[in-house]
Amino acid sequence: MEWRSTALAFYGLGAAALATSLVSLRRRLQLSKAKNRTLTGHARIARRIASLVPFYQYGEHEFFCCDGAPEEIVACRRLGFTRLAALYATRFAKTIRCTAEASDGISDLQFTDAYRVPFQYRSLVRQHLKSPGFVQSSAGVMVSDLDGNQFYDLTGSYGVNLLGYDFYKQAIARAVERVGDLGPVLGPYHPVIADNVKRLKAISGLDEVSFHMSGTEAVMQAVRLARYHTRRSHLVRFCGAYHGWWGDVQPGIGNPLPAHETYTLKDMSEDSLRVLRTRRDIACVLVNPLQALHPNASAPTDSSLLDGARSAHFDREGYAEWLKRLREVCSERNIVLIFDEVFVGFRLAMGGAQEYFGVRADLVTYGKTLGGGLPVGVVCGRKDLMKRFRDDRPADICFARGTFNSHPYVMAAMNEFLQYLETPHARELYRDLDRVWNARAQRLNARLCDEALPVEVVNMSSIWTICYLRPSRYNWMFQYYLRAEGLALSWIGTGRLIFSLNYGEADFQAVSDRFIAAARAMQQDRWWWHDPAATNTSIKRRVLKEMIAHRLLPKRDRAQRA
Ligand SMILES: Cc1ncc(COP(=O)(O)O)c(C=O)c1O
Repeated sequence: MEWRSTALAFYGLGAAALATSLVSLRRRLQLSKAKNRTLTGHARIARRIASLVPFYQYGEHEFFCCDGAPEEIVACRRLGFTRLAALYATRFAKTIRCTAEASDGISDLQFTDAYRVPFQYRSLVRQHLKSPGFVQSSAGVMVSDLDGNQFYDLTGSYGVNLLGYDFYKQAIARAVERVGDLGPVLGPYHPVIADNVKRLKAISGLDEVSFHMSGTEAVMQAVRLARYHTRRSHLVRFCGAYHGWWGDVQPGIGNPLPAHETYTLKDMSEDSLRVLRTRRDIACVLVNPLQALHPNASAPTDSSLLDGARSAHFDREGYAEWLKRLREVCSERNIVLIFDEVFVGFRLAMGGAQEYFGVRADLVTYGKTLGGGLPVGVVCGRKDLMKRFRDDRPADICFARGTFNSHPYVMAAMNEFLQYLETPHARELYRDLDRVWNARAQRLNARLCDEALPVEVVNMSSIWTICYLRPSRYNWMFQYYLRAEGLALSWIGTGRLIFSLNYGEADFQAVSDRFIAAARAMQQDRWWWHDPAATNTSIKRRVLKEMIAHRLLPKRDRAQRA
């Protein structure tokens, strides 16, 4: 009898253990299914593979014919490259000299300069097409370099420049005047902060505000608050989304440590909703609405433009629908929904992505343009989520400080920005935003199509990306032709063009003309020649083979010598 009950208990325990392992296996499988199949969706594997990629570069001849181009095409490319190099060397001489002298002591400059083109082409490009890293003035939609060359600014200063540089210059000047009596006193606030809080509450539709020094810090704080209040560990981010450079939101390449408490899930996918519905360790979901332009893909940089596979497509309704579903699941499961609007806030609509897509978040982060030209990060949130201590547990706090977090000058420049949003001029500007920018993109695309130039632009309002219609190995060269035509891009190149809203029709027409001229020149120099048999897949395969060969080569050499 006793033996039988012991055996039964044993079987019972075994069955319970089996059931538990089956449940956790099922969850594990659900999680795997919710990962994007690309390397971007698998942060750990991506980091591991990245550490194995060997450096190698094309020699002078291969540089021009790595796609198997015949000699007459190679000759055209060489000629084009030499002409462009001569133009850069003369037209940007002083700026390039200054950049070269400073570069040695500026690590950021060394990094950005190394990652403008795929590494196989890096040396020759850096030797002959030096990228000027300095500017000296801005006016209207233009910036000027140290040689006095004027460029249409398409960098948008990483998105900060929404209203045109002149606006921010004035905002900063007025801010200095308004808080000059107080100066840089930190700790107690300048009264201007109260007005900022009132306006931000109205814009975000949320109850409280906290100020930080950068977008990255605002995101850190939003996630920390979500973890604190839910007492859960994990954050969910979507594949490819950028949320600043803090480790937990950057689990893949670029972060020396793995992020253990981050799930990177597929964007716009039922599989991800299933994970949110079933796991109990998820504190928050972070959404960067910019991903609507290229769901599941990372920011499109030219340094990874090995072929023509970059794609983008913005479906406003589809993304709005996705956000609604996400909102429902987060509400059901008490998961904090965070919109990271550091980039798109104020760019898509006055009320940001919440207004634009018609979905409310629990916490929203802002930054960039909100600082009126000065550095800032802001979290707006529901009262219960913003609280940093518990009334019944005095030692259980959610700590967040930051020496400069409410700097009077920043607060006053922010106030200038927020006040501007109330003006009739601003209302007029926002009224037809999408119509204006969609029409401009369509017009440019029509011209490109008419001239059979293998490029197109895809836009999400005033944020644009350039896509390539041919599986060429040289699409990254386009950035150098654009610069030669007086169009300034940021270091990530043709993947991200950011217009300020003060671009008038005449400015835009000039940008279009230059864009077309650059594409024509690139076409004439035959960089877009391609072997009809080549596809994006075949190019990728070939590059992979090269990498494997270069990884194995030294070993083979060693073996031969031994
Ligand atoms: C969506 C988003 N979140 C956070 C950040 C980080 O902001 P910051 O560079 O001010 O730290 C960025 C910066 O580009 C961003 O685009």
